[in-house]
Amino acid sequence: MMKVLLRGHDYKHEVSELVKVFEKFKKIEFVENEALVDDQSFLLANDVLEENDEYIITSKIKEKNQSSIENIINCRKIVDDTRKMKKILKQKIKLSIYDILSKFYDVAPPWGILTGIRPTKIVHELMEQNLDIQYIREKLKENYRMSEEKIHLVTKIAQIERPFLKENSNDLVSIYVSIPFCPTRCIYCSFPSNPLDQGKNLIKEYLKALLYEIEEVGKILKEHNKRVNTLYIGGGTPTTLNPEELKILIRSLKKHIDLKWVKEITVEAGRPDTITIEKLNVLKDEGIKRISINPQSMNERTLQAIGRSHTAEDIIHSYKMAKEVGFDTINMDMIIGLPGETVQMVENTMKEIEKLNPENMTVHTLAVKKTSKLRQHLNQYPLGEEEEAKKMLEVTQAYARKMGLIPYYMYRQKYMLGNLENIGYAKRGHACIYNIQIMEEKQSIIALGAGAVSKIYYQEENRLERVPNVTNIGHYIARVEEMVERKKKELDHN
Ligand SMILES: C[S@@+](CC[C@H](N)C(=O)[O-])C[C@H]1O[C@@H](n2cnc3c(N)ncnc32)[C@H](O)[C@@H]1O
Ligand code: SF4
Repeated sequence: MMKVLLRGHDYKHEVSELVKVFEKFKKIEFVENEALVDDQSFLLANDVLEENDEYIITSKIKEKNQSSIENIINCRKIVDDTRKMKKILKQKIKLSIYDILSKFYDVAPPWGILTGIRPTKIVHELMEQNLDIQYIREKLKENYRMSEEKIHLVTKIAQIERPFLKENSNDLVSIYVSIPFCPTRCIYCSFPSNPLDQGKNLIKEYLKALLYEIEEVGKILKEHNKRVNTLYIGGGTPTTLNPEELKILIRSLKKHIDLKWVKEITVEAGRPDTITIEKLNVLKDEGIKRISINPQSMNERTLQAIGRSHTAEDIIHSYKMAKEVGFDTINMDMIIGLPGETVQMVENTMKEIEKLNPENMTVHTLAVKKTSKLRQHLNQYPLGEEEEAKKMLEVTQAYARKMGLIPYYMYRQKYMLGNLENIGYAKRGHACIYNIQIMEEKQSIIALGAGAVSKIYYQEENRLERVPNVTNIGHYIARVEEMVERKKKELDHN
């Protein structure tokens, strides 16, 4: 247990997020008084003192009755800008705590003081100031304590993303369409997805409501002179729809939404147990060039353990079928750190993916999400250690290099094994623009369907407004007009 005593400030959230980077899944408790610390706990004291035109930040860590380590950082006051000062102060508090914990535990978490999910955003902010890339790299080390390896990764990705972001303007948007149905629910998943055994009879009514939303939003986009940059049909698993339903959905999008500016359309086929030659032909005939077919793992035991009702052979079969039908880009998602998996098993997955040679691969690190079955039954699922997860990630990186795949977007999530990251790889010319836009948050995303969250971006103010749709399918069907109205109201301001 880590007991934390704060004096001179109340940044509990920031401090606890950072401490958890070191004390993952262990408890921390804020205390008011040093005397409350018992023999089994560590005490981390963090003070901020105001003196003349400086703040003095002190961090001290000790075990009861043991010698302590102390760390002091000074920070000049910028009195005329309170918001900026608060930001700097928070950063210095985190740096001071990071340094002392690193010394105490003799570890240096590779993402430094970064606990947010979009580290590349920091690089873009610095790039917008026209700073030299070498200078940016130094700042990432000095101001955030990022490791050399992570600095290399984020700067490389930000450079690849840059041209796509530069094209953004207030009138350019992307569209996301949610099909929140899946054959079964995977144990790690917290996305809006309804297993077919419970949701099947709702599909018809759901599609009816979704088609209404598409038509109405199409009118709003036209009224507001918005141009569509990318379209992403995800979920869930859109290919749980039958071929006819898929055709109706795509045709309705084409009919009601002006797609003449569109650079890419992606359909998440996802689960091979939903993919048939008829559905692939519909997608191809309707002009879809990008799809995903996601193994997660190529190990049978794991596929069973995580609740995916398909085999590794099914993945290979679906992939080959899709290649024959002829899509330009096929993405494959995988997850490292799945229950019971070893580094060797990840290597096996990579060998199989390498044979298929997809144009995109997205490597996720397992995140133990709060609402997942995995989290609720953690004791039944053996999860690997931090060091093992790192080795797994290295294996995937080595294979990606071998396959000519370049990292082009990335993000982190809460409760990830080893505090690592998710990395999307692409062959040259195959990067998914939608993934870049959703991650960097510099373009409005208009999201349709149950559980879909629109994000309206105000370019001049560099501000984002979230406009969520309700997640429950029944509620969505009943309240679809309200979902349209919510978006209209926000877009009227944009
Ligand atoms: C929204 S899911 C949809 C994909 C599709 N339904 C499928 O499962 O094949 C997108 C991807 O996120 C990843 N993912 C979902 N939950 C995760 C978790 N808890 N930890 C790590 N990756 C996760 C999986 O790789 C998944 O393919
Ligand atoms: S991971 Fe994909 S298939 Fe599995 S439940 Fe989530 S959305 Fe559905």
